[in-house]
Amino acid sequence: MDLIVVGSGVSGLYAALTAAARGRTVTLLTKDALENSNSWYAQGGLSAVGPEGIAAGDSITSHVADTLTAGAQLNDAENVALMCSSAWAHVQALVSAGAHFDTDASGEFARGLEAAHSHPRILHAGGDATGRSLASALITACRKQEAAGGLIIREQVFVTELITTPNPDAEASEAHAATDHAATRVIGVRTLGPDSSREELFASAVLLATGGSGQLYAATTNPAGATGDGAALAYRAGAALGDLEFIQFHPTLVSPGGFMVSEAVRGEGAVLINEHGERFMQEVHPDAELAPRDVVARAIHSVRANGGTVHLDARAVEAKHGPGFLARRFPSITAELEKLGYDLGLEPVPVTPAAHYIMGGILTDDLGASTLPGLYAAGECANTGVHGANRLASNSLLEGLVFAWRMVVNLPMTPEIGDFTNSETNKALTKVIVTQPPRRIEGKADPSANFESDELLNLAQLQDLAQRYLGVVRTGDGLRTALRQLERWQVSPHDRSSHELANLLTLATLIATAALHRENSLGAHYRSDAPEPPLPVAGHLQRFAQQAPTA
Ligand code: SIN
Repeated sequence: MDLIVVGSGVSGLYAALTAAARGRTVTLLTKDALENSNSWYAQGGLSAVGPEGIAAGDSITSHVADTLTAGAQLNDAENVALMCSSAWAHVQALVSAGAHFDTDASGEFARGLEAAHSHPRILHAGGDATGRSLASALITACRKQEAAGGLIIREQVFVTELITTPNPDAEASEAHAATDHAATRVIGVRTLGPDSSREELFASAVLLATGGSGQLYAATTNPAGATGDGAALAYRAGAALGDLEFIQFHPTLVSPGGFMVSEAVRGEGAVLINEHGERFMQEVHPDAELAPRDVVARAIHSVRANGGTVHLDARAVEAKHGPGFLARRFPSITAELEKLGYDLGLEPVPVTPAAHYIMGGILTDDLGASTLPGLYAAGECANTGVHGANRLASNSLLEGLVFAWRMVVNLPMTPEIGDFTNSETNKALTKVIVTQPPRRIEGKADPSANFESDELLNLAQLQDLAQRYLGVVRTGDGLRTALRQLERWQVSPHDRSSHELANLLTLATLIATAALHRENSLGAHYRSDAPEPPLPVAGHLQRFAQQAPTA
């Protein structure tokens, strides 16, 4: 077999489809049903600058600049340029594969606005069901491809381990020699089937596209399956991970209720109000409610931490466009809120920040290659560097598509060590990269901590710790307390849910380690004991302006 793809979000589906359509033999494994992915729940959309946007004054340069600004300039500027400049080609490929995007009255793609975008460039489908719509189209296309041959789809199959072997070419790669695991190559996966059956599958390449790890937190926008499986698998096999301290908290999870309201609602003009009914974001950032997501999430957190409440108020939007506008533009959101007893057009809804996206993950180059030969990653579990310290809204589906495609079309026919280029040396200067088990943490404990057992009994315990110490606002003492407990906790994985718990425990330990290591606040990583961000890194924008790609 040429390729094993693990995960059925848009990255996994697109990679499997593209590879099989190009004559590769592919097996797609997913631990649940194909539809159960993080991508499926993406509301806002897919950011892409096309000819109509350019005619209206937008540009790829502007999309790149917005991505770098939101990312606090920690981004890999070259990969950002690659992503933004190839976005439109992937929109067209999706349409050819059967996807539909919403259109406006003139028949052109409708373009929404979201936070920190300087132009409306968010394509959406089904109003606010973009992920579901794109994933459905790709699932249909994958099913057709399966019938035509070259692609085998297996649902309810959980990957417990990557199979590695000594890598005969290890000496040949300087970059790999930089890690202690340079000597291994990934050649397959061990799986746990629905009937507890165990299997080994082998392939020339394994692509992890397993999504994120939002389930680490009690308040999350992610579905139950977001348990950090890919990052944990890759780490245990010896791959390098980077940027794990950067967790994006979405500002507007309805609470109580637990349903996310897309930033696109603020893009249409909804505002945030405190317990006095007053807006507060104008004092925090010139872009107010459309400031970068980390800024908005921190501001809401701060109001709530001081005993206040925050509501999302869309009444003026409904009044401006007329009754029924919100239900037409955001059919899923309004219907879900109705189930929770809220009418978005008539009343402000209570909101809180919630874990939404992890910017870090398995370190990859621009072709999806990890530091381990034979192992690739795409989508949220990967760290291509495009999101920097804080992802720009609606860049996640785009990143997943672009780098999954690049991985597949550049996949060598015969096993070879991936090109892990010199630019990694530069990245290492600014990234927290983890390849080794974190060393034991000494120091003062937080006396309010009360985690007693050595066995991690359930997910709620871990979520409680993450919410307290790895959340929107962190401190060195809190992170040390978290790490000491995380090092004590043990899980003996035997079935799927205990494997998932073990994966989340691994992720929590790595996130806490990375967060402790980064002693300054930057982007989504905020340390109240070191609130000042370091001086901005100069030059990214300048460099990009000289190399601006064309659409
Ligand atoms: C949203 O619709 O607010 C989320 C979109 C994203 O995470 O990019």
